[in-house]
Amino acid sequence: AEPLRIGIAGLGTVGASVVRMLGQKGTELTRQCGREIVPVAVCARDRNRDRGIDLGNAHWFDDPVELARSPGIDVFVELMGGEGDPALSSVRAALESGRHVVTANKALLSRHGVELAAIAEKKGVLLNYEAAVAGGIPVIKTLREALVGNTVSRVFGIMNGTANYILTRMEAEGLSFEECLKEAQRLGYAEADPTFDIEGHDTAHKLSILTSLAFGCRISADDIYMEGISNITQADIRAAAELGYRIKLLGVAQKTESGIEQRVHPTMVPTSSVIAQVHGVTNAVAIETDMLGELLLSGPGAGGNATASAVIGDIADIAKSRPGFQHGPVFGRPAKELQPYRRAR
Ligand code: NDP
Ligand code: HSE
Repeated sequence: AEPLRIGIAGLGTVGASVVRMLGQKGTELTRQCGREIVPVAVCARDRNRDRGIDLGNAHWFDDPVELARSPGIDVFVELMGGEGDPALSSVRAALESGRHVVTANKALLSRHGVELAAIAEKKGVLLNYEAAVAGGIPVIKTLREALVGNTVSRVFGIMNGTANYILTRMEAEGLSFEECLKEAQRLGYAEADPTFDIEGHDTAHKLSILTSLAFGCRISADDIYMEGISNITQADIRAAAELGYRIKLLGVAQKTESGIEQRVHPTMVPTSSVIAQVHGVTNAVAIETDMLGELLLSGPGAGGNATASAVIGDIADIAKSRPGFQHGPVFGRPAKELQPYRRAR
C-alpha cells in the first residue's frame, strides 16, 4: 500500500516525541497499519535549533499554513498549541484542502472545535484529537466509540498533569508551589503559558470537550465555573490531611434537571477514595452511565511519550482507514446536530 505521508507542525515536547517514536516503532507500525507512516514535512519556528531528533529527508516549512495545504501530505499533525493562529488557520486550511488532521490542542478545540468538526464532516476527512484530553488516556475513543448507546450522567476527574504533580509533591515532600511548577515545566508537562495549568483553564478546555461528547451539546468553555490552585498553600494541604482529605484539582460535568453543570476547582477528596490515590502527572477520568455504571480511566496525563502515544494512535487510525469509508462524526454526533448548550441554573 502507498505510505501515509504526514506533515508535523510543532517540534517541541510532543512533536519531537512523535518523530522519535515514529523512528523507533516504524517497523511495528507498518506491520499493524498495513502501510508505512512517513513524516515527509515538518514546521517549527526555529529552523536551527538542535532538537535531538532525526528529521531524515522531511521538507522544512517556515509557514504552518503552507504545510497544511501542501499537496505532498495526507495528514496534517498540529502540535504547536494556542487557540488562535497559526493553529486555527492551519488546521482550517488542512481540512478545507481535504487533508486529515490530528491535533493535541485542547485550547483550539475548546474554542473552535464545532466549526472545525463541521468542515471535517463536510469534506469527509478525519479530525482526531485523542491527545487533547488526559494525555495518553484513551478517553475520547471511550466516550465516542466504546460507550455508544450509554446515557452519560456525569464525567469528572483529574485532567491536568501539571496541577496534580504540583499538589502531589507539595504534600509528599513539603516543596513550595514555585519549585514544583518549575520541575513540571522542566519535565515538559506544563503549557507554554503555565497559567493555563494552575488557574484551571486547561482543565476547563478538556472538560468542555468531554462535556460535548458526553451530552451531545455544543462546546462551551465560557460556561465553566473556574478556580485554580495558585492560592493553595502548605497550610491548606496540612489542614486537609488532618481532616482525612487530600486536595485535588477536579473538573466536573453533570446533567441536572435545569441543564448542564460544569465546574473546575480544587476539591477536598477523602484520602481513602480512589481519586485521592492518583499521584503526580497521572490523570483519572470517571464516567458514569446508565448501562455501565461507573468507569474510571487513569494513566499518564502529560509528557512527551504519553502524549505521543495518543497522537500516534490517531495517525494509525487514519493509516488503517480505507478510501471512501464514511467517518463517524468528530464529537460523537454530526456538528450540525449538536444541541445548544444549556447551562444549569
Ligand atoms: P512546546 O511549546 O514544547 O512546542 C511547541 C512547538 O510549536 C515548538 O516546536 C514551536 O517551535 C512550534 N511553534 C509554536 N508557534 C509556532 C509558529 N507560529 N509557527 C511554527 N511553529 C510554531 O509545546 P508542547 O509540545 O508541550 O505542546 C504542543 C501541543 O500539545 C499543545 O497544544 C499542548 O497543549 C498539547 N499537549 C501537550 C502535552 C504535554 O505534555 N506537553 C500533553 C497533551 C497535549 P520552536 O520549537 O521553534 O519554538
Ligand atoms: N499541560 C497539560 C497538563 C498537558 O499538565 O496536563 C497535557 O494536556
